Amino acid sequence: MKRPDKKNIVIFASGSGSNAQRLLEHFERHPEIRVAALFSNNPKAYALQRAETYHVPALLFSRDEFYNSDKVLRQVQQFKPDLIVLAGFLWLVPQSLLHAFPDKIINIHPALLPRYGGKGMHGLNVHTAVVQAGDSESGITIHRINEEYDKGEFILQEYCPVHPEDTPEELAARVLQLEHKYLPLVVEKLLLEKDEL
Ligand code: GAR
Repeated sequence: MKRPDKKNIVIFASGSGSNAQRLLEHFERHPEIRVAALFSNNPKAYALQRAETYHVPALLFSRDEFYNSDKVLRQVQQFKPDLIVLAGFLWLVPQSLLHAFPDKIINIHPALLPRYGGKGMHGLNVHTAVVQAGDSESGITIHRINEEYDKGEFILQEYCPVHPEDTPEELAARVLQLEHKYLPLVVEKLLLEKDEL
């Protein structure tokens, strides 16, 4: 009997790509899911090298190509994505991509949305704001995306403590551990339509 094709993930990443790395590792030998490609807007993104290490196509695009042409859309379509994962991707996704892949694009955010979201709220900016607010708890939000930054239906939130003496960097490290643990599990759950993580 012919085996069904694997499901395809396409990753978008703008920076270091440690979350992309977790997906690359987790799905490297997965029987049902593969990382088909990684796209980046940043020529210096270490995420590009991580993809190449795993022999996954790494594609770079410019702002003009992303917002003023259908080049990126056509390239993404070639990989037949079942899910697109924004893993530290910092640009707003254009309508053309949203319409081509309704409900198939998810984002990971390093805080408990709806707080600490929106334009400019990424990386250390988020953790600095949480520490300055004196919150006792932070965490991650994995959510579907729509045409606004950090909005869209929540899929999962996980929590961690914020200690009074935490620096933003210390909090970032604690939150990143949660991201690395849960992102592959959520992707797997969505693609395999599992009830549990
Ligand atoms: C992650 O913490 C991710 O949640 C965040 O960027 C970091 C990327 O790290 N994303 C956002 O802030 C989106 N608003 P990584 O490049 O090591 O995966």
